This record gives sequence, C-alpha cells and structure tokens, in this order.
Amino acid sequence: MTVDSSLVIRQAQILHPDGELRIGDVQIEDGKIQQIAPHLALPLNNSSREIDATGLILLPGVIDPQVHFREPGLEHKEDLFTASYACARGGVTSFLEMPNTRPLTTTQATLDDKLQRASKKCVVNYGFFIGATAEMLPDLLEANPVCGIKIFMGSMHGPLLVDEEPLLDKIFSQGSRLIAVHAENQERIRQRREQFAGIHDPAIHSQIQDNQAALEATQLALKLSKKYQRRLHILHMSTAEEAELMRHDKPAWVTCEVTPQHLLLNTSAYETIGTLAQMNPPLRSPYDNQVLWQALLDGVIDFIATDHAPHTLEEKAQEYPNSPSGMPGVETSLALMLTQAAQGRCTVAQVANWMSTAVAKAYRIPNKGAIAPGYDADLVLVDLNNYAPVRREDILSKCGWSPFEGWSLTGWAKVTIVGGQVVYENGKVNPQAHGQALRFDL
Ligand code: DOR
Repeated sequence: MTVDSSLVIRQAQILHPDGELRIGDVQIEDGKIQQIAPHLALPLNNSSREIDATGLILLPGVIDPQVHFREPGLEHKEDLFTASYACARGGVTSFLEMPNTRPLTTTQATLDDKLQRASKKCVVNYGFFIGATAEMLPDLLEANPVCGIKIFMGSMHGPLLVDEEPLLDKIFSQGSRLIAVHAENQERIRQRREQFAGIHDPAIHSQIQDNQAALEATQLALKLSKKYQRRLHILHMSTAEEAELMRHDKPAWVTCEVTPQHLLLNTSAYETIGTLAQMNPPLRSPYDNQVLWQALLDGVIDFIATDHAPHTLEEKAQEYPNSPSGMPGVETSLALMLTQAAQGRCTVAQVANWMSTAVAKAYRIPNKGAIAPGYDADLVLVDLNNYAPVRREDILSKCGWSPFEGWSLTGWAKVTIVGGQVVYENGKVNPQAHGQALRFDL
C-alpha cells in the first residue's frame, strides 16, 4: 500500500455535524477535508485515489482519550507500533496515552522521548499526559505538548500515586491545565486488601476496590475542582453512585468518561474469563451498568475511553492478587458501541459524539471530531450490514487477547484514514502511514 495525497470517498453515508446521515462524496487534499457534496464531478484530479463506499457509514475517526501503551519500558506487553496497528484496526485515529510507562512520564525529557518514539512508530495520531507526583515538578505545569495532568488517586504504587488531600489541593491550586483523575481511595483499598487477604477468587477484586472507594475519591476530586474552578476530568467512571453524584452536582468545567467494559461487562465476567476481567476500577454490578448507560444517554457522562491496558496471558494467568489489572480495548471499542446502536440502545450519531466529537472538544484538539470542510481527514468507514465475531487470532495488540472474544459485533472498521492516508483497509495496516503529534489549544 502507498500513501495517497488526495483521496475521494464516493457515496458513503456521511455523518454530518448536524447528526444526520446523508449519502455523498468527500474530497480530501493534503490531509484535510476539502469538500463534501451529494456527487462530486469526475475526474477530480488525476492523482486522486477513489474509494467506493456504497453501503458503508463514514464517521469521524475515534479519539481514544485513555490508553496505556507500555512504551518505553514495558514493551513485552505492547509497544507504540503494535498499539497503533491495533488502533488502526479499531477505527481509532488518535489516542491520548497515560504516564505509567518506565520511566514514568513526569518530565519534559520523558515526554520528548515518547513523542520521538511515536513519530517513528505510530500509524495514528498521538498525544500524552504528564503524570503528577508528590515532588510537584515544574514540568507538571510547563511540559508541552500535553493533553493534561494525570493523577492516580488510587490503584497505583510508586511515585505516581498522589492520594493525600494537602498534596492534591496544591496540584489543583496551581495552573489551569486539565486534571484527569483515576479516582479510587487508596487508603480504603489498602484496608480492604488486608481484610480480604488470602482469597484468590478474582471476583473479590470488585469487593476490595468497591464502589465506596471510587465514590470517595471522586467526591474529593470534585470538591477540589470546585474550590479552584479547575478543569477536571473523571477517568473511567464505574459506579452508579458516582454517576448520580455527577447528575446532581457537575460544574460546567467538569467532564467524565466511561469505558465500554463498564457499560457491557459486570462481575459475572469473573466466572467466564477469570482474571482477564480484572481491571481498575473493577467491573461492577448489572445495576451499575444500567445507571452508567442512562448517565451516558443523558449527557451526564460526556464520552468513552477504553483504558486499553494490555498484559500478557502469562501475567494474567497468575493467581489473584498477583495477576495484573487491565484489559485491552482499542480494537473492539467502536464495533462494541456501534453494535449497541444497531440494537437500538443508542444512535450512530451518539456513538460518534461520545467517541470523537466530545473528546476533541473536552481536550481542545483543534480541527478534529467532525466531518466538515477544513477538518483533518481522520475518518473511519464502518459496515453496519454484517456481523463478525471477536477472535483471538485477529487481535493485533501484542497481548493477543480480548475480554470480548466470541462476541458477535457489527460496525467493524472497513477503512481507517489518518490525515488523508489510508492506514487500514481489507484487514491490513499500511506500514507506510504516519500519525502526527496532537495539538491542544489552551
Ligand atoms: O486496570 C488498569 N490497569 N487500570 C488502570 O487505570 C491502569 C492499568 C494499567 O496500566 O495496567
């Protein structure tokens, strides 16, 4: 596969910014959407490549705002090359990656290293968080480009854990960039780990790191955000209690996200897939699934992230609690959500908003998240006419498994386009494609 500088997509059902699907052609030049019309004249340009998209839906490419891609330092689980291939297959055209790599991303130098690696390896666009530590390095406020500050209030050992209120208060009080929190109360988790020590059934994970642990941390983050009117994002919200809190008390400068697994899986998954279902924050009850869904439909929860956190099958095969928490997600998230749309639980336009438009808005990523002239040509053509199962042998993530294996899904990406380049087509990734570093407006 080569990289084309101009491209025409013919007769796709285009999702327009007004939320309507209308059939038309899209012309792309130099990485940008040039024009959109019911029929563009032929031939447009001798060098144009044409894609016949009859019967397919064209959506803005997915922006996954929470992934853990493991490079540098943990490349036996995943690296930026395999992770970005997995993104391309999943229709994910941009990602925001977390700082718990080795070394931790807490300085300009470690950020620059990631950016450089990504520029060589990623076939999709990339952005990175900077991690907060108790040291309160000046880089936390100064390093660039970053999409925000990540605080692990719980579920993290080592220097990235910041769980004491005076320290958190200090971080919230300084600067103005977005703060994204992993909200679990570490002290409560510590006590409950002792209380439940010796139990090896992974289902105990959801009781140790219980709903109360998540709620208490979210309450604290919300309190500090209100004190300083500081932009706050609650990562992977998992409980009914947090959703209800946000329904009644969510300032305009606060956003929240949910993962497909917290919507679609619950504690019954431990019986079928054991430690593969173990993640932080843990899977919850069917009641939590239901309340989170309603909060998403009502706009209380703003968008969707996968928290793609791959571990090898060997690591996952260790007995609980030695088994690591986390599951992959970038390859299946769009198809999972579009399957929900196909089944009438939400609309295709809502899925595109939750997985692209609303993310670009919250993280202030210019020119992304919509199909309109002048926007970057980050696009995905999906097929909602056929169903195909999630199969282990198809997984491109280095970890080589999915918690959704065997699920029959529709809405799989047929063609993924990043900056006007076709990066995924006919089941294959184009190794010549390159992503770009994302920009974040202040
Ligand atoms: O389950 C999880 N695993 N949750 C996180 O937030 C991070 C993570 C990881 O990096 O493995």
